[in-house]
Amino acid sequence: MTDTSTGAGTGHSGHWAATVPTGPGDDAEQLAARLWAVGALGVWERSGELVGYFPGPPDDFPDDQRDGLPDDVRWSHEPEVDHVAAWRAAARPVRAGAVEIVPDHLANSHDTPPGVHRILLDPGQAFGSGHHETTAGCLEVLAEVDPAGRSVLDLGTGTGILAIAAVLQGAASVLGVDTDPHAVAVARDNAHHNDVEVDLAVGALDDVDGRFDVVLANLLTATLVELADDLPGVMAPSGWLVASGVGTERAHVVADAFTRAGLRDVEVRPRGEWVVLVARAAT
Ligand SMILES: C[S@@+](CC[C@H](N)C(=O)[O-])C[C@H]1O[C@@H](n2cnc3c(N)ncnc32)[C@H](O)[C@@H]1O
Repeated sequence: MTDTSTGAGTGHSGHWAATVPTGPGDDAEQLAARLWAVGALGVWERSGELVGYFPGPPDDFPDDQRDGLPDDVRWSHEPEVDHVAAWRAAARPVRAGAVEIVPDHLANSHDTPPGVHRILLDPGQAFGSGHHETTAGCLEVLAEVDPAGRSVLDLGTGTGILAIAAVLQGAASVLGVDTDPHAVAVARDNAHHNDVEVDLAVGALDDVDGRFDVVLANLLTATLVELADDLPGVMAPSGWLVASGVGTERAHVVADAFTRAGLRDVEVRPRGEWVVLVARAAT
C-alpha cells in the first residue's frame, strides 16, 4: 500500500522494480512489509501483484537484504520517471475531516472554505498526500476525536500530514516518528512550510517515551499486529487509537490483536477497500 515511489537522487538512472505475484491465499500486506523491510522506496499494489521500487539493482544488495525477498520476485529495470512531477500534474485539493490538503502548486489558485484548515503539501518522496483512503480516513476520525488540547503521537508520520492536521486543530503537543529518515525530513519541511510546531524524530514505537491522548498509526496490517501489545503502553488512560493501513479483508486480524492487547471499544470503519480502526485504552 503506498502512493509514492521514486528513484530520484540515488545515483542510478531509473528504478529497479521487484514484482511479486500475489495469489488468493497470499497476505499482500505481509509481502509489502517484506519489500519495505529490504529497502523499497515505494510499494504499489495492482491486480494480482505487488511492485516494490528500489534505488539500485539486486546485485547491489547486501546478502541479508536479498535473503529477505520472496523467492518468486521478478526484477526489471524501469527508466527514470519523475513521479513527483506526475503527482503534481494529477493532484487536486482533497478535503478530509477538518482539513483540506492543497498541493503546493495550487496554493494561489485555490480557495479553502472558511473554517477548514488548509495544509499545503508537496509530498516529495514520502507517503501521505491525503489522497489515499487510509490517510483521509485517519483525518476524518482525528476530527471526530478532536485533538484540541490533547497530546498526539503520529506513528509512521510519512509526510507529517496527520501530525500537521493535529496541530492545526489545536493539539497541545504532537510527536511524529517514522523509521524512514527521508520521511522525517519531508515531514519537517512540510511542518515548516505550514508554519506549525511538530516534534519529529526518526524512530519506532520503542523509541517513544510518554503516553498520549491520541495515537495515530497508519501503518500496515503486519506492523500493527506486531505492535499491538505495546501500543497501550504509549496511550493515556482512555486515550484514543486511530489506526489504518489495513485492507477490509484483514481488518478482523488487527481488531482481534487490539482486543487481545487490552484495548476496548475496538471499532472497524470501512473506507473503500481499506478500514480505519478506532479503539480506546483502558480507563
Ligand atoms: C502508510 S505511511 C503513513 C503516512 C501518513 N501518516 C499518512 O497517514 O498518510 C506509513 C509510514 O510509516 C512508516 N513506518 C513503517 N513502519 C514503521 C514503524 N514500525 N514505526 C514507525 N514508522 C513506520 C513508513 O516509513 C511510512 O512513512
